[in-house]
Amino acid sequence: MPTLATTVDGLRMPNPFVIGSGPPGTNLSVINRAFREGWGAVIAKTVSLDSSKVVNVSPRYAKLHSTDGKEVIGWENIELISDRPFSIWLDEFKRCKDAHPSGVLIASIMEEYRKDSWVEIVERCQDAGVDAFELNFSCPHGLPERKMGAAMGQDPDVLEEVSGWVMGAAKRPVWAKMTPNITHIEDPSRAALRAGCNGLSAINTIRSVMGVNLDTLRPEPSVEGWTTPGGYSSRAVKPIALRMVMEISTLIRKEFPGRSLSGLGGIESGEDAAQFILLGADTVQVCTGVMKFGYECVRPMCDELLAFMAKHGFETLADFKGKSLDYFTTHADLVRRQAERKAAQKAAPKKVVASDAEWSGDEFVKQSDALSRQ
Ligand SMILES: Cc1cc2nc3c(=O)[nH]c(=O)nc-3n(C[C@H](O)[C@H](O)[C@H](O)COP(=O)(O)O)c2cc1C
Repeated sequence: MPTLATTVDGLRMPNPFVIGSGPPGTNLSVINRAFREGWGAVIAKTVSLDSSKVVNVSPRYAKLHSTDGKEVIGWENIELISDRPFSIWLDEFKRCKDAHPSGVLIASIMEEYRKDSWVEIVERCQDAGVDAFELNFSCPHGLPERKMGAAMGQDPDVLEEVSGWVMGAAKRPVWAKMTPNITHIEDPSRAALRAGCNGLSAINTIRSVMGVNLDTLRPEPSVEGWTTPGGYSSRAVKPIALRMVMEISTLIRKEFPGRSLSGLGGIESGEDAAQFILLGADTVQVCTGVMKFGYECVRPMCDELLAFMAKHGFETLADFKGKSLDYFTTHADLVRRQAERKAAQKAAPKKVVASDAEWSGDEFVKQSDALSRQ
């Protein structure tokens, strides 16, 4: 019987499914609910020392629906970090650890570009008993105006310096959460790992504009008729998240073996989780998926991941972590491999090659090539 239990950076989890920072971890009562439902760990909503500077607006979500209107496939938010007082959060962290001593509670923290502030927030959260930290270097909206969030995450030098401050104060594992709003995700990733962070999380939301209302001509979400670009999440972002997870895993393998990676972006099923793990993730986070399907979605996700493992004879997550990374290569190498296979096929024309038979797109390409020659 395969097991989902895993230990990452010394954090012992019953399964790799982690609540991603956001509304599903927005106060003690919902965090407790997540532990009761069996989540492997919970990352609370991002906190800062002075919540009075955080002012949210409404509405702050806009959704992209499938053509039949039945499914949400993309989700934009212009929500800021937590607007609840830090003192209340500290009390809730303590009470959460009292109620769930073996539950892995991770504080997501964000501060301005000041060493004292970062050291203070780390020390006060760890005194309250949190098990680990996630550094929010990645919120794409609102906070960058105060040089926080993605504004830090997009500047590898600043990110490395701030990560260094945190590592000097932290007595618990630290993950740095990366923004996808950057050309090369390896650059900030390398900076955080060089500063000593135990691991990375990727990705935060993708800067986006959901759409424009064709009756009012106002972009959405519309706040008093106005908007600001937000962060895109949910199923639609999974291919981009997978690509970035692949790139970070490759970097970790080459330059920082042993560091961890928590993958997220559009995960809604055990099969989604399996794909992130196959590309090198140690744990997987779910944020929008919990808002769409409820905390109980962790149970089918665990069952689906176990079924995938049983099908392939994998007993532990380590048995397949990063296994699909080996199949990435350059385009030139794809050309070479295909030419070799075609040459071999010519030499033995009766042999049907599975990849040809299975790839229906092949026929489409042949036909369009023929048309363009006419
Ligand atoms: C409404 C909303 C609020 C969020 N708030 C935070 C936050 O406070 N801190 C943070 O690090 N990420 C935040 N995120 C980003 C998510 O943690 C996650 O990185 C992103 O949504 C992609 O994963 P998903 O598709 O599973 O949601 C938020 C996402 C949403 C949708």
